[in-house]
Amino acid sequence: MQLAVIGDMHMQFDEEDVRFFNSSDYDAILMVGDLAAKNPDSMFRILPLLNQITKPSYLIPGNHDTTGVRQLLGELMHNETLIHFGAASQETRMARLKRELTGPALCGYSTHDLGDLRLVCARPFSMGDANAAKTEKPLDLPVNFRPFLKKEYGIQTLAESAAKIKALIDAVNPPYIIMAHHGPFGLGAKATDMFGADFLPEETDFGDHDLSEAIAHAQNTGKPPLAVIAGHMHYPTKHGKKPKQWWLERDGILYVNAARWPRIFREGRETYHHHIGLAFDGGSLAVKASYVGAAGIAEVTDKRACFPENP
Ligand SMILES: [Fe+2]
Ligand SMILES: [Fe+2]
Repeated sequence: MQLAVIGDMHMQFDEEDVRFFNSSDYDAILMVGDLAAKNPDSMFRILPLLNQITKPSYLIPGNHDTTGVRQLLGELMHNETLIHFGAASQETRMARLKRELTGPALCGYSTHDLGDLRLVCARPFSMGDANAAKTEKPLDLPVNFRPFLKKEYGIQTLAESAAKIKALIDAVNPPYIIMAHHGPFGLGAKATDMFGADFLPEETDFGDHDLSEAIAHAQNTGKPPLAVIAGHMHYPTKHGKKPKQWWLERDGILYVNAARWPRIFREGRETYHHHIGLAFDGGSLAVKASYVGAAGIAEVTDKRACFPENP
């Protein structure tokens, strides 16, 4: 079974992508979220393209999807007033997203059958929290966009979110993979680590604690996922433009960050479109980054490279 993972698009997805994925050998297309550019309503312009994908496809919303600028600022500044101020507009945009996304399945705290594999989708709209690495009880922290998550899923804290993801894992029929917008805590604190922050004064592990808690539960109960795929932490890094680790294997679990940014870019005379391919042989998963250009596909398996040296 072949799976394509598309990282943060931020509006970088076009007709060529639709043609490529529809004629590809992929059995399913997984999208880790962040469709929108700075304007939260921009995402609605990309939905008609996503609806043209003829393969089974799955989308978990990122922190830029349906959320407003004030809310995002509130999350970054831990300002409750700003977070609450934008909550109503998120509800309106989510209702529109549910109406207008007619192709891909909209995911979040949900399980989907891919055939040979199951897909467990974790918390939607996740974006990490700068306080999480510093606090003694990170699971007591509120989830991002709490007013909406409370209303939609009854979830207010990372502990409640972890419990919800654990319940999905308990109920799933293995083998399975986990998809989230942002990755788990515990994979490194450097800016070049998979979910390490590269936008704060200090380098810190920005990963989500509800997800790491649920993965630990899966391991402790003998039901580890084959892979955990996410995005959100773009690479190359913001400062210094260094390659970020985009895949690693730990304790038999494959972790993938698909957020290569820009996703569509020029290199020499060629324009490339990035995605990640996962091949499941019934036992394990093989991973590669694919850069699709007019002349062919350049592939990378190097854990830290952002692009082939000699495409
Ligand atoms: Fe993003
Ligand atoms: Fe994001």
